[in-house]
Amino acid sequence: MKYTKYITSAAGLLGLGAILVACTPAPTMKTGYDYAIPETQAMQDDDFSNPAFVWVDIGEEQWSTVDGEAGKSCESCHGDASSMKGISTSYPKYSAEDGKMRTLQHQINYERTERMKAKAWKWEGDEMLGMASFIKNQSKGMPLNVSIEGEAAPFYEAGKAFYMQRRGGLDMSCKNCHMDYPGVKIRANVLTNGLPNGFPTYRLKWQKIGSLHRRFRGCNSNIRATPYKQGSDEYTNLELFLTHRANGVAVETPAVRN
Ligand code: HEC
Ligand code: HEC
Repeated sequence: MKYTKYITSAAGLLGLGAILVACTPAPTMKTGYDYAIPETQAMQDDDFSNPAFVWVDIGEEQWSTVDGEAGKSCESCHGDASSMKGISTSYPKYSAEDGKMRTLQHQINYERTERMKAKAWKWEGDEMLGMASFIKNQSKGMPLNVSIEGEAAPFYEAGKAFYMQRRGGLDMSCKNCHMDYPGVKIRANVLTNGLPNGFPTYRLKWQKIGSLHRRFRGCNSNIRATPYKQGSDEYTNLELFLTHRANGVAVETPAVRN
């Protein structure tokens, strides 16, 4: 009897342990910044030496530029750009109008085509990357905070499945590199958790700023898998999964990486 009691309490303890583990918040993940060499970190830290600010300035200029048949600028309706503080932390966001998720870049083009009656910007163009950087920079230092509840749930599941799926000539998943081996050196790079919190990001390799979806394409190509289009449903859902994974991590936009 004593023995049974021991087993029961041991099981109880194990159960309690499991509950404690489940309740303990996950430790904040390290970002690409934490793995970067001091020179790259210093470049990101100083707005004057951060080369991405060329694009932030383009965004700032566009904010008050009137364009389109409605004769309006972003500023005409939203006032000072400080009104955007915190907004980007909840993107990708579910849109009932679209019946799917919208990234901030989708939202920016919605504002242009629907509210300004202006032309959509190219995903990887200077104006779009400028505006996305300018808006996200208003939330610099604030924690990412996307919702995967309700209508967003199936899109999150799709993004997660994409992340876990092995693909390409090397038959690897995103998880294989970014969850299983952060801190491990792969060619010239140290693998990180592959977080989205610094995008649009200036890459020394690109010698310019680029979108998160451009980075997805690069990571897909590196394992010899066919990349998807920037702004596609696949990459938008993937962005949702990745951003939720990084919930609580501070926005760094615009980051500098090698
Ligand atoms: C004709 C007025 C108008 C113009 C011009 C306009 N907006 Fe908006 N915008 C709105 C309204 C109204 C909403 C919905 C209510 C809200 O969230 O403020 C909105 C929503 C947004 C949102 C989503 C806010 C959220 O909570 O998710 C973003 C981001 C945004 N606008 C950015 C821009 C940018 C960038 C431009 C210029 C390219 C722009 N807007 C131009 C009126 C406008
Ligand atoms: C063969 C390993 C490998 C695979 C598989 C891989 N990546 Fe990467 N990824 C890298 C390397 C190397 C870098 C540059 C160093 C770093 O940030 O980890 C990188 C960088 C990134 C970054 C930029 C992080 C930052 O801080 O700027 C993101 C985001 C990312 N990967 C997402 C993904 C996604 C999503 C997938 C799956 C579609 C994926 N990666 C698949 C190797 C990989």
